[in-house]
Amino acid sequence: MSAAAPPVPLTHLSVLLREAVEALAIKPDGIYVDATFGRGGHSREILARLGPQGRLLALDRDPAAVAAGQAISDPRFELRHAAFSEIGSLLKGLDGLGHARVAGVMLDIGMSSPQLDDAERGFSFRFDAPLDMRMDTSRGQTAAEWLGEASQTEIEKVIKNYGEERFAHAIAKAVVAARVECSIATTRQFAALVEKAVRTREPGQHPATRSFQALRIFINQELEELSLALPQCAAQLAPGGRLVVISFHSLEDRIVKRFLRAQSQPQQLPRRLPVRSVELLKPTLRLVGKPVFPSQAEIDANPRSRSAVMRVAEKL
Ligand SMILES: C[S@@+](CC[C@H](N)C(=O)[O-])C[C@H]1O[C@@H](n2cnc3c(N)ncnc32)[C@H](O)[C@@H]1O
Repeated sequence: MSAAAPPVPLTHLSVLLREAVEALAIKPDGIYVDATFGRGGHSREILARLGPQGRLLALDRDPAAVAAGQAISDPRFELRHAAFSEIGSLLKGLDGLGHARVAGVMLDIGMSSPQLDDAERGFSFRFDAPLDMRMDTSRGQTAAEWLGEASQTEIEKVIKNYGEERFAHAIAKAVVAARVECSIATTRQFAALVEKAVRTREPGQHPATRSFQALRIFINQELEELSLALPQCAAQLAPGGRLVVISFHSLEDRIVKRFLRAQSQPQQLPRRLPVRSVELLKPTLRLVGKPVFPSQAEIDANPRSRSAVMRVAEKL
């Protein structure tokens, strides 16, 4: 009889750890925000560089991340259960912060390894589990609930737009046909259905990869969260403060790139408008360096880092 596979340790290897914390250019007495605590790799490194007067506010929308963060006992550190789209109001309400602006914000968006490796979270077709996919398990609709009631057009739109899946129409049709018989409640049910509907195979990729990504992005409103958070982060920075964003797929990176570009260039208006140059909105951010990618050594040690890109900007 073969022994059961040992459980996967639910740890997270921080991506671009040294590069990101160096990019924050930590001021020992500054106030910093780690808006994606995860398992606290970046937070711990920030705390190691802060002096006794420094402060770090961390947040995560995943209650399991917040529970893991209770292990950090440090008077300079505070961890909240919140979505980063609430960062503006959260900072306003923070005790003792008053109207002080922050010296740096870190966003390491996407999934933590514990989220991907805990079968029960329903993010992965590698395990059979309830099709949940919520990062914040305390609220909102699960992927299974949504698939049970969304229209075929809505399902097709989500899978096409967020998964860039060519077979979105066939998949949505298959979901709507299958749910007449029984609800699509598990990761395996959904993966099997997608596998049948996707007619070609991409090398090295499970046919359900794109559909799982799409559902996850939609259920967690990931792109909306990012679009709402970026201007709030920039507004909260003191002059010279740094914004560091690590993203893991092109849909997110496009939002980051466009935002940083718009904020770092003088306002563009159609020619011949009777507007004087002093009336144009001035740039609020300065881009710092070029986009940074993980080294081959980091990718070898942590293949999940392979799609990461880090962008950095400084408040003017
Ligand atoms: C890649 S992990 C962060 C890992 C962390 N930097 C570390 O070193 O351990 C991303 C984390 O961001 C959280 N997250 C994703 N979207 C979020 C949002 N909109 N608001 C708050 N947290 C979010 C996820 O729950 C996850 O724990």
